[in-house]
Amino acid sequence: MTHRRVAILISGGGSNMVALLRSMHGDHPATPVLVLSNDPGAGGLVRARELGVATAVVDHRPFAGDRAAFEDSLQAALAPHAPDLICLAGFMRILTPGFVGRWKGRMLNIHPSLLPLYPGLHTHARALANGDREHGCTVHEVTDELDHGPILGQARVPIEPGDTPDILAARVLVKEHLLYPAVLRRYAMGDRTPVLLP
Ligand code: GRF
Repeated sequence: MTHRRVAILISGGGSNMVALLRSMHGDHPATPVLVLSNDPGAGGLVRARELGVATAVVDHRPFAGDRAAFEDSLQAALAPHAPDLICLAGFMRILTPGFVGRWKGRMLNIHPSLLPLYPGLHTHARALANGDREHGCTVHEVTDELDHGPILGQARVPIEPGDTPDILAARVLVKEHLLYPAVLRRYAMGDRTPVLLP
């Protein structure tokens, strides 16, 4: 099977992107072809270059809310690299049904909660406020409905007494870095069986 070509979209530090890049070697069925950010200052761009992966920037600010025009530029930046799959990894722009439809069944996202719990933002604070005993992260296929696509993997962490959102986020992030590479490896082979990490 030829390698699946993976583009990774980021907005910030890109720790999940780094975990994905580091996983794609040896007998892995995928290869990274591009790391793209909507923020020219994203620290993940430096990390991607250090790891020898092509990078691109499509700054969303000049588009002033014209999401379709921004996504046309996204597509233009992606096209030369001919990705088969897109991994959203800390990508903080909401994508329209037009772009999502174009990548239906070929675009993944990692979200820091046990979906369907807590779609959207501030997931750690919400889990703490709710008095939950556990929390975690989810990798899912991206669909028109934000953070609601078919679940491809989940990892759980305990919530401990005295946890703050930052402490909990750090505990979840460790699991994200294990979960996303495991899901991508399986998904790139055409296997959609959910990965469930303890
Ligand atoms: C992580 O919490 C991830 O779940 C969310 O964005 C945060 C930062 O991710 N998608 P990264 O370090 O930029 O990969």
